[in-house]
Amino acid sequence: MTRYFTEEASVETVNERVGSEASPRLREVMTSLVSHLHAFAKETNLTQDEWDIAIDFLTRTGQICSEERQEFILLSDVLGFSMLVDAINNRRPEGATENTVFGPFHVANAPIRQMGDCISLDGKGELCRYIGKVTDLDGNPVENACIDVWSDNADSFYDVQQPDIQPKWNNRGRFFTGPDGAYQFVGIKPVSYPIPDDGPVGQMLGHMGRHPYRPAHMHFLVTADGFQKLVTHTFAGDDKYLESDAVFGVKKSLIAPFVRSDDEETVWRSDFDFVLVPVE
Ligand code: BEZ
Ligand code: FE
Repeated sequence: MTRYFTEEASVETVNERVGSEASPRLREVMTSLVSHLHAFAKETNLTQDEWDIAIDFLTRTGQICSEERQEFILLSDVLGFSMLVDAINNRRPEGATENTVFGPFHVANAPIRQMGDCISLDGKGELCRYIGKVTDLDGNPVENACIDVWSDNADSFYDVQQPDIQPKWNNRGRFFTGPDGAYQFVGIKPVSYPIPDDGPVGQMLGHMGRHPYRPAHMHFLVTADGFQKLVTHTFAGDDKYLESDAVFGVKKSLIAPFVRSDDEETVWRSDFDFVLVPVE
């Protein structure tokens, strides 16, 4: 029997149209999406003007996307959705290093460097020695782990945001552990920076009374055969944005010590060990 649309039965009306060709998973995801979307409009008594503004916002969000810019991921980030999906998909045992948001500034195939090398190529900022080891859950060293690192420079920009100003691969590099699982490199003590806020997402943050800043962090992508990929950062514990990260990436366990160093080359030293989980 055909059901015509009513406000009361809006969800059922839409969801019973899903055909038998839809896979069970698509059916599950789409019917849930419709149900929550309709509940949102009903709960807020959404006005036509508000929905028009939302459509205009989503249109502009799509229009600003390009090879270099992904405004929808940024939207997902500032709504905490990227962190939620990441959390659901990376539930880890006690003791394992936690994941956090990947972000848009990773570049694949960064130069492979020797342990102890400096990744800061522009001579700006205070140098910091990053040091630690990669282990499994029992504390055994992980050999041949790839530690791919990237950070902004002392002016708060990643190299890819300033291709005509910064040296290529500034503050990036890959390091491979030896049998002892140890790593060590020199970078800068990173600084806080705003996420790209000159588009619709930045405007939305402004309307919501939110700032666009991320607390200072060093990005790490740690991979090793037989272990789950670890996408994480370490955060400087003295940053004023730690409790208001625009993308909700901070986890307590990822706040690392940044202490005055005692070597000639660096001003700071940051010790952090990465604990990987085996693949099932
Ligand atoms: C980042 O840390 O690089 C980042 C993460 C999410 C949005 C923008 C930047
Ligand atoms: Fe970042």
